[in-house]
Amino acid sequence: MQKSFGCSDPQIISYVEKTFAPEDEILKNVKETSIKAGLPPIQLGSMDALHLEILTRACQARRAVEIGTLGGYSGIAILRGMDKKGKLFTCEISERHADVARENFKKAGFTKNVEILIGPALKTLPTIESKGPFDLVFIDADKENYPAYLTWAEKNLKVGGLILADNTFGFGHIADVTEDEEIKGLQEFNSRLAKNPHFRATILPTGEGLTVGVKVK
Ligand code: DHB
Ligand code: MG
Repeated sequence: MQKSFGCSDPQIISYVEKTFAPEDEILKNVKETSIKAGLPPIQLGSMDALHLEILTRACQARRAVEIGTLGGYSGIAILRGMDKKGKLFTCEISERHADVARENFKKAGFTKNVEILIGPALKTLPTIESKGPFDLVFIDADKENYPAYLTWAEKNLKVGGLILADNTFGFGHIADVTEDEEIKGLQEFNSRLAKNPHFRATILPTGEGLTVGVKVK
């Protein structure tokens, strides 16, 4: 499944993809090997991976955290936004996904720059706190826990650091009155981040909604 770009005009999408060429052979191969390995086809859209790389570069990140590795597609984008000494800590609950990601990180030349933390992120995140504070935290995992991941990021980001989160339009349901735990998690994440005086935040209107916040104090 190719996740959509925020703009739905096919001519404009085609123009943007031709002009900015977001996906090279390495990223295409990550998608192919992920599908072959039976991973769910829910990685970022190619333009969103490029957004991640550019945002990482813009904040000059050197230490980044990702929650939800999947096959490594978004992690490679973050790693591409960092210099040679950049380090990505990426949390993944599934050993099988982590195996696929490890191979993809290797093919992309990032074995030395990445540490995959296997297990529930709420268990593994405390083990890397001493390596922080971090320049960037990207959240793209179980939606019910977005508020808990936000609490961790609030504490472990440096001032000037970025928090990014995928799917914050709630698959079209973010504005619903709902008892759905995933949507409620995303709603709480957005509203708490928007109100937090230590952050300035927005949602970039990508296909899925990409929340971006800067820690300002
Ligand atoms: C789906 C998409 C995502 O980007 C994600 O993080 C989780 C699930 C989906 O389309 O189901
Ligand atoms: Mg996602």
